[in-house]
Amino acid sequence: MAGTVMREFAGKTAFVTGGASGIGFAFGRAFAEAGMKVMLADIEPEALASAVESLQSFGPGVRGVSCDVADPASLEHAAKASYEAFGNVHVVCNNAGVAAGGGIDNISLDNWRWVLDVNLMGVLHGVRTFLPHIRAHGEGGHIVNTASMAGMESGLGFSPYVASKFAVVAMSEGLAMQLKPLGIGVTVLCPGYVRTRIGESGRNRPARYGPAPPLDAASPAGALVAQIAKFLQAGLDPSEVAARVLSAIRKGELYVFTHPEMRGEVDERFAAIQAAMGKAAAL
Ligand SMILES: NC(=O)c1ccc[n+]([C@@H]2O[C@H](COP(=O)([O-])OP(=O)(O)OC[C@H]3O[C@@H](n4cnc5c(N)ncnc54)[C@H](O)[C@@H]3O)[C@@H](O)[C@H]2O)c1
Repeated sequence: MAGTVMREFAGKTAFVTGGASGIGFAFGRAFAEAGMKVMLADIEPEALASAVESLQSFGPGVRGVSCDVADPASLEHAAKASYEAFGNVHVVCNNAGVAAGGGIDNISLDNWRWVLDVNLMGVLHGVRTFLPHIRAHGEGGHIVNTASMAGMESGLGFSPYVASKFAVVAMSEGLAMQLKPLGIGVTVLCPGYVRTRIGESGRNRPARYGPAPPLDAASPAGALVAQIAKFLQAGLDPSEVAARVLSAIRKGELYVFTHPEMRGEVDERFAAIQAAMGKAAAL
């Protein structure tokens, strides 16, 4: 059954992965304030419990469920907990994400696997879990995938983070095209630096990916990490990002950008692509 594009939030339900911190937590608060029931799903139990606690007074119902988005069964379980608590889910935010070092000197397969499992497969697992449900209930729905400006330009270099975010942008574009006729919206969020705990992602690195490879603070990779930490500190407040996303859902917008000062970097990439396409035309 075809749904309708979501304009009204009150009384509906949002499911947010990575909801215990940063952007996901800000989503949770904004949805609750808009009158939605909210299920926060996260891998970090203590942070999740305090996030749920601190949002209690904001909306008709906020709950939390433990979930590792890298594991499809864990997401299925979390979805079931959400249906049992609140009934149908309408907005799904595939937002959980982690960052780990990359570069050319120490290409760590564990780093690549962890980042791709959470940032890319986690988004896919969310779509795969909730899409049949949203299509079946026919009450309208919207999928929000958190990518990054790192999915628009590769300024962070050769890294699993950039690869994962380019993939999330591409899959969101493809999904939007296929869901449009069904009246289900898709938004891909591409922020620059936001003041969150993403720089401390290692706190949630499961043991199966091994320890993070040692980082020499004096190396170029170490300097980049220190620089990024400063940019994150000076980053946008997550509540501003959440407000933009709610507005995009209401308007049915695909892309959300929050950092206009990064436009030049995207322009540069497109200019290089256009120039190369020009050479193809000359063949
Ligand atoms: N902070 C930024 O500057 C920035 C910029 C662009 C994009 N993003 C993206 O925003 C999203 C949210 O990150 P944030 O910046 O709020 O960071 P954050 O660390 O504050 O929050 C991320 C949340 O995801 C959870 N998480 C990590 N692994 C998980 C897993 N396997 N399963 C379930 N939950 C898991 C963490 O416990 C945490 O609560 C990420 O996808 C990130 O890549 C962040």
